[in-house]
Amino acid sequence: MPNYKLKKILSEMRDIGIETVPSSYLSLAGEGKKAQKKSSRDANDAQAASLDNAQESLLASASLEDVKAEYANCMMCPLGHARLNIVFGEGSPNARLMFIGEGPGFTEDHTGRPFIGRSGNLLTKIIQDGMKLKREDVYIANIVKCHPMKDPSSPEKHGNDRPPSPDEVEKCIVILRKQIASIRPEVICTLGAPAAKIMLNNTGGISAVRGKIFDISPLPEEPQYSVKLVPTFHPAYLLRNPPAKKTAWEDIKVVMSLLRL
Ligand code: URA
Repeated sequence: MPNYKLKKILSEMRDIGIETVPSSYLSLAGEGKKAQKKSSRDANDAQAASLDNAQESLLASASLEDVKAEYANCMMCPLGHARLNIVFGEGSPNARLMFIGEGPGFTEDHTGRPFIGRSGNLLTKIIQDGMKLKREDVYIANIVKCHPMKDPSSPEKHGNDRPPSPDEVEKCIVILRKQIASIRPEVICTLGAPAAKIMLNNTGGISAVRGKIFDISPLPEEPQYSVKLVPTFHPAYLLRNPPAKKTAWEDIKVVMSLLRL
């Protein structure tokens, strides 16, 4: 059962005065989203669990709108001073699939939307023409939410992109974690080596991780929550190296089979 449905049912039960639920409800949280909550209670004392426990991890996750509002004026790192817009991310709050890129570029900074430049168009094509999904059905985010610029005083300059610094990543990843906690995707597909490295805590290049499926626990405060991660190439790389599109399509097919599409 998707978590948003379970949240609703639990809230309604509380409204009509039900305070405990069968312990099996605890494991329903995340079921079908491959995020089984493994209760450590032994069978004897697990007949009933408080509604508070069942809701705890679900309701502790803020809604995407709340997370967005919380960081609307974010100045946690120097990127906040130069950005034109925060590129929070967009898509379905109940997405089963989340794409994660490295960070916004020029067009994204100017519009506040992720992946809408040339590489974004290719990503949209992959989602729509390849996966037969709508862009609005998935969630698209980045590791950092503001455009990392070589020259922060010139947001209007083209070719002003740079990778985010480790410090910028460390500050900003908190927002991504809250997005993941809220959405609870079944599958994360990282786009490009930097996003894969950061999500996998891995120092190797894309060839070290591509073609594999990883189980990761992206929420340090909730180590029992795990999600499948499939790394693939960044669409910008695919634009520069069209032959790699074939390999990327293999990755996307893996994503689709994990989602049973
Ligand atoms: N590249 C990224 O990694 N993210 C975007 O949003 C756009 C381009």
